[in-house]
Amino acid sequence: MKKRLFFIGALCMALASCSGGKSEMDRFIDELMGKMTVEEKIGQLNLPVAGDIVTGQAKSSNVSERIRKGEVGGLFNLKGAEKIRDVQRIAVEESRLGIPILFGMDVIHGYETIFPIPLGLSCSWDMAAVEQSARIAAEEASADGICWTFSPMVDVSRDARWGRVSEGSGEDTFLGCRIAEAMVRGYQGPDKETQLTEDDQILACVKHFALYGAPEAGRDYNTVDMSHIRMYNEYFPPYKAAIDAGAASVMASFNEVDGVPATGNSWLMTDVLRKQWGFDGFVVTDYTGIYEMIAHGVGDFESVSVQALKAGIDMDMVSEGFVVNVKNALDKGLVSMKDIDTACRRILEAKYRLGLFDDPYKFCRAEEAAQEVYCQEHRDIARKIASESFVLLKNENVLPLKKQGTIGLIGPLAETRSNMPGTWSVAARFDVPKTIREGLTEAVAGKARVLYAKGSNLVSDYDLEIRSTMFGRELGRDNRTDAQLLNEALAVARQSDVIVAALGEASEMSGESSCRTDIGIPDVQQKLLKALVATGKPVVLVLFNGRPLTLNWEAENVPAILDVWFGGSETADAVADVLFGDVNPSGKLTMSFPKNVGQIPLYYAAKNTGRPLLEGRWFEKFRSNYLDVDNDPLYPFGYGISYTTFEYSPVTISATEVGKGGSLTAEVTVTNTGKVAGKEVVQMYLQDVVGSTTRPLRELKGFEKVALEPGESRTVTFEITPELMSHYNSNLEFVAEPGEFIVSVGPDSRTKNSASFMLK
Ligand code: BGC
Repeated sequence: MKKRLFFIGALCMALASCSGGKSEMDRFIDELMGKMTVEEKIGQLNLPVAGDIVTGQAKSSNVSERIRKGEVGGLFNLKGAEKIRDVQRIAVEESRLGIPILFGMDVIHGYETIFPIPLGLSCSWDMAAVEQSARIAAEEASADGICWTFSPMVDVSRDARWGRVSEGSGEDTFLGCRIAEAMVRGYQGPDKETQLTEDDQILACVKHFALYGAPEAGRDYNTVDMSHIRMYNEYFPPYKAAIDAGAASVMASFNEVDGVPATGNSWLMTDVLRKQWGFDGFVVTDYTGIYEMIAHGVGDFESVSVQALKAGIDMDMVSEGFVVNVKNALDKGLVSMKDIDTACRRILEAKYRLGLFDDPYKFCRAEEAAQEVYCQEHRDIARKIASESFVLLKNENVLPLKKQGTIGLIGPLAETRSNMPGTWSVAARFDVPKTIREGLTEAVAGKARVLYAKGSNLVSDYDLEIRSTMFGRELGRDNRTDAQLLNEALAVARQSDVIVAALGEASEMSGESSCRTDIGIPDVQQKLLKALVATGKPVVLVLFNGRPLTLNWEAENVPAILDVWFGGSETADAVADVLFGDVNPSGKLTMSFPKNVGQIPLYYAAKNTGRPLLEGRWFEKFRSNYLDVDNDPLYPFGYGISYTTFEYSPVTISATEVGKGGSLTAEVTVTNTGKVAGKEVVQMYLQDVVGSTTRPLRELKGFEKVALEPGESRTVTFEITPELMSHYNSNLEFVAEPGEFIVSVGPDSRTKNSASFMLK
């Protein structure tokens, strides 16, 4: 292969002198495409799933014959450098033109060193940590054969029923943009100009384009229907931020946009993505996205394949729509050679940028993988990041716990390894994470004792438990009766000085196709918790969840609640670090917690409406409210407490008037008024009081996480630029409209620490 490439390279050099201003890459690809048959070009657009390829037997696997024939552009979710090398060798040595293939994987929140689920990670509000998690994921994955990750998922979502909120960064557009950028930098490299030049930098794939986070009723894959003004202001920006940060690929979403499936939506894939945003990478469908257009009801297999290609899709994940239909469609004149060439070129460009034509085995570094994957250094970082993602929701003088006496650890999440990584951890090993029981026991060794009881199953309904613990994440159904399990737990509780209740969702109760209409702690676990609280012993609820939960009773009655999401492979140690005060919790919610499902969608950046409920009121006839619950969340966006306290000075602004195009600053001084060091996420919100269209009551426009020693103060300054004052109007122009703005700076989205200025 190399020889052939040198030959091609030399030929390109020779051609360069007479081919004008083309780049080396263009010339190389021109030359290569000049040799490709139509079938080989279409083959580059094909991304089948790898299937079960055993190391050393790649040659005889089903997919190998297709690779030889040039019918495969990439494969995904095949794990292991040696296996991948074997398969790549077939492409390079046994296919006619020796074109290397892409190896993709869902490396969503870590490879084998698993970081918190993305929703948890976002609660750290720490962009350096987010970037570092993606960097480590890329280091591990790239050594082990992977050159393309299907991440970041940047779908804004305001519906906690939707299982995939666990994979995203919550409800907020601005925070979502910053996280999208950090993830892309982590995977592809920090500097846009030099991204993808190192052998540990891999292609990011921003997904799911677009609006996948807004399915009706929070049901996965359901219909999405949204105004353009909302798309542009609230849902599009994180995709665009990832693209501006350099994301080399985009994944189409399953849902429809404006009545046309995203996969076949040329307005979305070409007008918005390419023409408006200047995206020049490649677009892949989601899993069987083309085939699913038949069920969407927009055509037969041939016509949906044509529609997808013409809309701007470059690569077909699993449907085989391009391989089966595009050649015929070409013969019938339904697609042009240019349509095929354009898509093929984009795939080859990605391979070129990755350096696969120079070294197709660049990402197969088995020795390095053996050293680096799940190494101690990565695990230490993952432990630290996990502890930063936890959100302390309530603490009535219970936490931190002392390492003394007897701790009663109770609950169905207390003794599981496989549930710790969280959903979408394809490469994770389930045998290695410590259980919470092990983590706590080790942390107090020689000082305190930990007693354990399961207390209850995950949920009373057996079938629901099976559906909620798929993909090897079983919790082990206990066949004793609920009463027997409870009695055992109460016996442990009676002997304990404090109770740690490890309860909540199993990791597969969120994630893809894991939606819920009741988002409380499951039935038997609630009964258990109530019985534990009734003992009168102090109870700490260590809450596992992949989405906001409804926790009214818990918030009222349980003295301490620590939300740990699914913290990744190092969850158990991180939980111990926070429970015993070695780490002071500093996470803040990135999704509002509703009081009940009926309030959903519930988000802080809501509109006032023409009949708002007045501040502090509940029900008033003919106002926008409910008879049976108030409008407020249980825990708002941005909320989270600490083992210390912080005080904010009144916000001051550098000007009360600013001219068009001008900026101003807003400033607060934050003081740690407690007894221990801590970190605070200082949040800045803007309200555009009067606009040509209705505007949200407030929108996050800045944040900074500051570390403060006891008694220490820090002044935090936010620059409010014209861009931050702008939004898309009804003509979809990005404008800063004159009038009053209110700036609020504080510890969460409800802050009243505000000042106002006029934009002239
Ligand atoms: C998911 C994607 C994922 C793909 C490949 C799909 O079902 O929606 O997020 O990247 O599968 O595994």
